[in-house]
Amino acid sequence: MKITLVGTGHVGLITGTCLAEIGHMVTCYDVDRDKIQLLKRGCLPFFEPGLNEMVKKNTENGRLSFTYSIRDALLNSEIIYITVGTPMGTDGQIDLNYIYTASDQIAEHITNKVIIVMKSTVPIGTNRIIKERIQAVSSGRASIEIVSNPEFLREGTAIHDTLFAERIIIGSDSKYAAEVVEKINQPFDIPIFKTDLQSAELIKYSSNAFLATKISFINEIAQICERVGANIEDVAYGMGLDSRIGSKFLRAGIGYGGSCFPKDVSALIQTATMHNVDMNIIKAANVVNQHQQVVLIKKAKQRFGSLHNKKAAILGLSFKPNTDDIRDSPAVRVMNILLDEGVQMTAYDPVAIENVRKLFGDDIYYSSSIEGALVNAEMAFIFTEWEEIKKVPLSKYKELMSSPVLFDGRNCYSLEEVSQYPIEYYSIGR
Ligand SMILES: NC(=O)c1ccc[n+]([C@@H]2O[C@H](COP(=O)([O-])OP(=O)(O)OC[C@H]3O[C@@H](n4cnc5c(N)ncnc54)[C@H](O)[C@@H]3O)[C@@H](O)[C@H]2O)c1
Repeated sequence: MKITLVGTGHVGLITGTCLAEIGHMVTCYDVDRDKIQLLKRGCLPFFEPGLNEMVKKNTENGRLSFTYSIRDALLNSEIIYITVGTPMGTDGQIDLNYIYTASDQIAEHITNKVIIVMKSTVPIGTNRIIKERIQAVSSGRASIEIVSNPEFLREGTAIHDTLFAERIIIGSDSKYAAEVVEKINQPFDIPIFKTDLQSAELIKYSSNAFLATKISFINEIAQICERVGANIEDVAYGMGLDSRIGSKFLRAGIGYGGSCFPKDVSALIQTATMHNVDMNIIKAANVVNQHQQVVLIKKAKQRFGSLHNKKAAILGLSFKPNTDDIRDSPAVRVMNILLDEGVQMTAYDPVAIENVRKLFGDDIYYSSSIEGALVNAEMAFIFTEWEEIKKVPLSKYKELMSSPVLFDGRNCYSLEEVSQYPIEYYSIGR
């Protein structure tokens, strides 16, 4: 089947590549010419393990192509995926402008029967509005059906998540359109659940809100652990042995971030408020997360008093390992506060340095190695649990920092290990 994706970011590029991988003819379109030119030269606009090889394979076999011409992208295309961003606006509402612009562009160029597949995460009710909008702008030139097909991939494991997802959700008011999208996805051999538009939209939001709540729940338990002398790692492990609870997303740390959880949680709260429903649990998850992200600053201030002019090593900048995405990264929020406190920071991340440099410029120092960041630092913060950061031998901290004080926001080391080294160690919930 010939498929066009409008928006070639994290979701668009990964979805498009995986659809090509299972045999479809895919065109990825983006308004960002630089991004498309980069892709045409065989380079990726962001870091994602395994993606480079798969893009290369599918461009070489002719199933995957890139364009910044909307006309070329939509020529004879009957299946159009919308994969543009839906960031949070400054007023806290989801900014749907990219969705509206993309829809209007589609409406101007389509001429026959098309199915719009919405992969972007959009507030409940948006798909219906978009269908009407495209119908109106295209002045009846084309017949349109819309399908909500929310995306659940996680950056860092996105290829695996797409090829081996646990479910594919297809929501539509059109039985025909739902069946076409089901057929497109059949080669993935993943369980498919078909439902109506609003339910599909809400499945996406509820899933992310539930996972965010699970993280905030364990982070709140971590706070009690610190007061009563319990160990959050043991508590989470013991809880997770119960299959009704499960061990995933029960890792205490400095809270969730990224381009999805914070904005999806806010969007669900906003939608509920509009419908006079008070989302007490989800609001609390958000509040707990706001506190949790800055918990290491409190610990550092308790330890040092003023942080002014102190030298700090920052290890890990992306919102989670295996991605260079720093959107809503807890590390970035904490670094902004540390900057205001007058801390001299040297930051290290395996792949996210360049993105962070765009935000902080010359306000902080950057290191191309963990060792370079640690040298002469008075304190070190671990914000992202990259494998290579987790593997730093504790002896290194002693070797490179004169009197090492380590604030570990991801509980990378066991207390037993740490006790064997002359390191002052502060972690979460232990
Ligand atoms: N990133 C994730 O992990 C993830 C996971 C699940 C769902 N989502 C959702 O998927 C959607 C996309 O997220 P993303 O992370 O891929 O965003 P992104 O910012 O990485 O990519 C969006 C792309 O859309 C392009 N774009 C904007 N307007 C356009 C237009 N009119 N025509 C063509 N291209 C246009 C941008 O240039 C950009 O390349 C969002 O709704 C997000 O919430 C993201």
